[in-house]
Amino acid sequence: MRILLINGPNLNALGRRDPSLYGSKTLAEIEAEVVAGGKELNTEVLCFQSNSEGAIVDYIQEQTADAHGIIINGGALSHYGLSLRDALADTGLPIVEVHLSNIHARESWRQHSVTGAVAKGVIAGLGWQGYLYALDHLVDEIMQGDGK
Ligand code: DQA
Repeated sequence: MRILLINGPNLNALGRRDPSLYGSKTLAEIEAEVVAGGKELNTEVLCFQSNSEGAIVDYIQEQTADAHGIIINGGALSHYGLSLRDALADTGLPIVEVHLSNIHARESWRQHSVTGAVAKGVIAGLGWQGYLYALDHLVDEIMQGDGK
């Protein structure tokens, strides 16, 4: 099984970016945790980060045929990235959206996610572990669905 782990704008700065909101782990450390979690579940996790919406859309289009599910933290694109939302919807894959911070407890413009609307579920405010919870859920769901 293959899961895409996609992070959007500014998430490459994790570790030095407001740790009170986003925690102190770097993106590389988080990715390593999720890749290791995937190995325990016989699942390959492919990691991708970009600050550009178009590059993320290109990546999703390129990888969809060989992937079984997507974990995405679109960063601020989650709130307004309609081409990202369409690309995610077009995959037809199960998607879990993750936010490190609790977007519902923050500014009003952060409380709505256009990409979350095309996800199976959204995990917000549980820090980097949210990515692991998303992985667990997707692997369970995909195994139940078609055994791939
Ligand atoms: C975020 C929340 C977004 O509002 C913000 O723009 C981010 C990170 C989170 O993980 O909490 O870049 O997606």
